[in-house]
Amino acid sequence: MDALSDLKAKYLTAISGAADEGGLEELRLAALGKKGEVSLKMRELGGMSPDERQVAGPALNALKDEIDAALRAKKAALGDLALDARLAAEWLDVTLPGRARRVGTIHPVSQVMEELTAIFADMGFSVAEGPQVESDWFNFDALNIPPEHPARQEHDTFFMARAEGDTRPPHVLRTHTSPVQIRAMTEKGAPIRVIAPGRVYRMDMDQTHSPMFHQVEGLAIDKNLSMANLKWVLEEFCRAFFEVDHVDLRFRASHFPFTEPSAEVDIRCSWAGGQLKIGEGDSWMEILGSGMVHPKVLAAAGVDASQWQGFAFGMGIDRIAMLKYGIPDLRAFFESDLRWLRHYGFAALDMPGLPGGLSR
Ligand code: PHE
Repeated sequence: MDALSDLKAKYLTAISGAADEGGLEELRLAALGKKGEVSLKMRELGGMSPDERQVAGPALNALKDEIDAALRAKKAALGDLALDARLAAEWLDVTLPGRARRVGTIHPVSQVMEELTAIFADMGFSVAEGPQVESDWFNFDALNIPPEHPARQEHDTFFMARAEGDTRPPHVLRTHTSPVQIRAMTEKGAPIRVIAPGRVYRMDMDQTHSPMFHQVEGLAIDKNLSMANLKWVLEEFCRAFFEVDHVDLRFRASHFPFTEPSAEVDIRCSWAGGQLKIGEGDSWMEILGSGMVHPKVLAAAGVDASQWQGFAFGMGIDRIAMLKYGIPDLRAFFESDLRWLRHYGFAALDMPGLPGGLSR
């Protein structure tokens, strides 16, 4: 059976030297395929004598099994090699530092809203809210600004559209946060202490005005509140917010239909060298309007003016943000320029500070 041992040696050598699975498959066909060398030998068994067959049959079967086993073993080994190669090629160093990702920053307006909410919360004010698209009644009438009142013109109002033929007064983009006074009092009655921060809209645009800006309304109603309480609250707020022991505030007599008496409040600042600074210089920046809530406003909100009285104020959030953080141009607040946001924005974990006068 020399022919068989030759075959065996030939195929086992070839199999162990095969470079890939394609080569192995060719060898399998050459040996064990239908017309493979081993298969052809199997066919020769038919023409043998029984004695010859008795010897050749088992030998051929053994050869077939051996070649088959060698093919399988080599196939597994090639698979392992391929996996090793892949693992080597796709190796990842999981200990490498990650690619740094830029984290967004908190807009100064959001930051300041959180700061002032915390400061007023310390003084017992909770937060109230109202819609930005407001009815004519809440934005004007209820605040003692009837349709023909000249104050309506001063508000540079954006009006919403009404369907043709609908003669009701159009809704407006609220021109101030004062309508939230009415909503809060109507809902909760007196006594009450709320602030209402939010967006307001007026057709106005320059370095210190933008058509959309932010106000915070303050409202305190009780039995015996006076202008003195208003002044204390505002001074206390400014000292805490600007983190100084002293701020120069200027109360100017003024007029609002919804307060009587009324005062506008300016804060001392300086624009020297294009830098906006709080607490020094000869400039004044108006930051709020205020006064004692008009009895007609209390009445419109269902509060008995013979029993209750109090004060209200409306402060420009963007203005005080500019002052505190030295931001000279209001328009940049709303341009969504990432470079500006990275410069003036706050990290997510910056806590609103409560230093200064307020004891915690
Ligand atoms: N609503 C007024 C404004 O926007 C501010 C204000 C609020 C004045 C409350 C007095 C009392 O100008």
